[in-house]
Amino acid sequence: MTQISIEHVAVPASLDGPGGADFLAIADLMNTQQREIWGNDDFYGTPQSQLAGRSSTPTRRRLILAARAVESREILGVVQLNLPLTDNLHTGNVNVVVAPDARRQGVGTQLYFAAEQLAAANGRRMLMTETEHLAGVGKADVDPDREDLAGTDTARFIPNDAAASFAAKLGFRLELVDRVSRLDLSDYDGGNALQEQAAAAARAGYELVFWRGACPQDLVGAYAQLRQKMSTDAPQGGLDLAEEAWDEARVREAEAREVEMDYESLVCAARHTGSGELAGHTVLEVFRNNLSVAYQDDTLVLEGHRGHRLGMLMKAANLARLREAVPGAERVYTWNAEENRYMLSINEQLGFRAVGYAGEWQKQLASA
Ligand SMILES: CC(C)(COP(=O)(O)OP(=O)(O)OC[C@H]1O[C@@H](n2cnc3c(N)ncnc32)[C@H](O)[C@@H]1OP(=O)(O)O)[C@@H](O)C(=O)NCCC(=O)NCCS
Repeated sequence: MTQISIEHVAVPASLDGPGGADFLAIADLMNTQQREIWGNDDFYGTPQSQLAGRSSTPTRRRLILAARAVESREILGVVQLNLPLTDNLHTGNVNVVVAPDARRQGVGTQLYFAAEQLAAANGRRMLMTETEHLAGVGKADVDPDREDLAGTDTARFIPNDAAASFAAKLGFRLELVDRVSRLDLSDYDGGNALQEQAAAAARAGYELVFWRGACPQDLVGAYAQLRQKMSTDAPQGGLDLAEEAWDEARVREAEAREVEMDYESLVCAARHTGSGELAGHTVLEVFRNNLSVAYQDDTLVLEGHRGHRLGMLMKAANLARLREAVPGAERVYTWNAEENRYMLSINEQLGFRAVGYAGEWQKQLASA
């Protein structure tokens, strides 16, 4: 077995300066892993975009550890550890990736435990990780009585593959399953009928507000509240996550990161005309390096405004706007908890179809 050492990697200031070559190797490892899972480059991240996405911000400390072959110094694997800094201070998020040729030699395990130690040293007691699986690949033959899967009754969607076996072996429990769905816009009828239906139901007094990129200054406080609510209103399964802390500064920070990562958000919000209050929002994201793919981010309707079909209205309207604003867009991906029947049914009516699953796993650290 190749001898390895585990080392911190600082995110470099630029790709062509010191540390740039190592970062390019890491970015490539991450893209290779995504291609391996999905069989396409729909989740490809340019190195420049990853440089911004893997850097720390005032709300997240992001650390990277790499496993290097002692002799050649080649990077054989990497773990990214993300530590929230303004809420959920008991948690951390890990993602381990090992180069295909270096697998099954304990590299992933060493990387993981180095990250776990670092998380514990930073006062974290709960670690979370995600595994991704293409639908129909591997047998979803996980034993329903398995101790680590006891947290969810949707475990049947997660195959017993390398990622799931690895997470289970390290002591993680599966707490939530997300369905990954895709809408092929060539099959999409524009959602006009759905939109009209929703508009009729919404005549209760809501108007739609749209923006691209930066939120208008007069709405930013209300938008921060919606973002905060989103962190707890979507199903969390058994994940030990508390409400996130959002304010105007955090919204602006997230917008600045979008610019650095070279993507743009198309936001649609519903405003209650009587009170002026924002009742909900939905967000589509488009990366400039690949305009054929869009990603659905948040969709939320605040509790007091539910039951008016605002979710459908906003989503259909924002998809129509995507087609106008980005004529080259061909498909849209979305992630929803398998237990989130309301959101799944909206997406199914719009034409989204399951292409895969993401497992959300959690481990309580022994030292806690
Ligand atoms: C999952 C991954 C990180 C494992 O890395 P690795 O260096 O091969 O892992 P290790 O050699 O330390 O394996 C530790 C344990 O995980 C489980 N495991 C790893 N790969 C497995 C496989 N292909 N099939 C079944 N079990 C597997 C085994 O229990 C293994 O212990 P064992 O070898 O004593 O049986 C690697 O396959 C990978 O990079 N996959 C793509 C990225 C990913 O899915 N990351 C998971 C995020 S949690």
